[in-house]
Amino acid sequence: MERLKGKVAIITGAARGMGESHARTFIAEGAKVILTDLSDVAGQALADELGENAIFIKHDTTNPEQWATVVKTAEQKFGAINVLVNNAGVLGPIAKTADLKEEDYLKVCSINQHAAFYGMKATLPSMLKAGIGSIVNISSIAGIVANYGFPSLAYVASKFAVRGMTKATAIEYGPNNIRVNSVHPGFINTPMMVEATNEGGGDALAQIPLGRLAQAKEVSNLVLFLASDESSYITGAEHVIDAGMIAQ
Ligand SMILES: NC(=O)c1ccc[n+]([C@@H]2O[C@H](COP(=O)([O-])OP(=O)(O)OC[C@H]3O[C@@H](n4cnc5c(N)ncnc54)[C@H](O)[C@@H]3O)[C@@H](O)[C@H]2O)c1
Repeated sequence: MERLKGKVAIITGAARGMGESHARTFIAEGAKVILTDLSDVAGQALADELGENAIFIKHDTTNPEQWATVVKTAEQKFGAINVLVNNAGVLGPIAKTADLKEEDYLKVCSINQHAAFYGMKATLPSMLKAGIGSIVNISSIAGIVANYGFPSLAYVASKFAVRGMTKATAIEYGPNNIRVNSVHPGFINTPMMVEATNEGGGDALAQIPLGRLAQAKEVSNLVLFLASDESSYITGAEHVIDAGMIAQ
């Protein structure tokens, strides 16, 4: 099946983890994909592996000028953009509020929150030209509840913000046939999760009703659905994928 046939998609943070999985899934479903990441060696290698429908651009999502270059390059190579997956993110230091350094707070908010704004702002004009669009903003269950095992006010603040920004933009652009949704993963088996667990982030498995971490591909299946026209009546909504974590 080619559920994204004819779609042009930008995926940030695509060099590893969930972003890599989303890129593999999108290519398999017929999309043309612009992979971006700070990590250029792994990102370029993945794009090379994925073939002629994938290109990689080294990109710091916190830099608006670089966003302009990404959109321009994408349009020149593949045409107007239909899908944006704002996936790049960082957990930041695990620290209680009084111990959290201001620079770390600002960095986490810059990457997780402000970059999602830059991405939507840069990409929306292209989607308006295309006459159809789907933006998928990757938040977290930490964008819905604060007590999820890894204490960091910055991560929680940034992921709550992404949820709100998603709704605001969805309302604004609904009349333009552009949908905007947020995805809220629980504990997913990626390098970020491995690093967090090694840093003492707690025993994730004990907290998960299904008793296991997710594979990145399980999140990709949801992101694929939201990116595709199968979700044509879904916008401004949060989509939790957490094996029952926050049902508790
Ligand atoms: N892993 C989880 O359990 C989990 C749970 C909930 C939400 N999330 C969210 O899902 C998203 C992906 O997480 P992951 O686990 O795959 O992470 P990861 O650390 O494995 O991969 C993230 C990628 O983003 C890139 N990146 C970081 N900052 C960037 C920047 N400023 N510009 C461009 N690229 C940048 C990194 O180089 C890396 O390749 C993140 O937004 C994360 O907050 C993850």
